[in-house]
Amino acid sequence: MSHLTVYLENDARRPELSTSDPDLMAGHLAHVGIMFERWTADTPLPASADGEAVLAAYAQPVEALKAARRFRAVDVVRVTPATEGVAALRAKFLDEHTHDEDEARFFVEGAGAFYIHLDRRVLRVVCEAGDLLSIPAGTPHWFDMGPRPRFTTIRFFTRPDGWIASPTGDTIAARFPLFEPATVDAA
Ligand SMILES: [Fe+2]
Repeated sequence: MSHLTVYLENDARRPELSTSDPDLMAGHLAHVGIMFERWTADTPLPASADGEAVLAAYAQPVEALKAARRFRAVDVVRVTPATEGVAALRAKFLDEHTHDEDEARFFVEGAGAFYIHLDRRVLRVVCEAGDLLSIPAGTPHWFDMGPRPRFTTIRFFTRPDGWIASPTGDTIAARFPLFEPATVDAA
């Protein structure tokens, strides 16, 4: 289930806010400049579906988003526990980093957790199928796909190299709970 947990940056144990209410999530995130929207993502995708097939299945919302937000390119990341090098892939996004452009993701399968470091707080956003999240350029964040990753997300870009990550060098990510899907609902 989509979920927002807000922590003070120096206290990963006692959240200030913990909610799965989509309107509350969207409102709270919008207040700090982060777009969160619930879209529909219920098109069944066969296990063999590649990026092209995923984009074809979601052509309508993808085109609408590209037009509305001036995105120029999209691609697809699809990860399962069987994906080659999955442990390294998980580790790659676990350190705090920034990008030169917004990080916009539309989840169409599975789930993963973004951790956004903003205003002396960490906002953990567990995204699931149907969630659209956009983190503004330059905002420190990290992402945990969990110990048994399973998600498909469509990425939106305004520049071909916009996704390149710049590490902040901050070790804050290590102080916050990892994404363990079984515990998310109890958070
Ligand atoms: Fe990122």
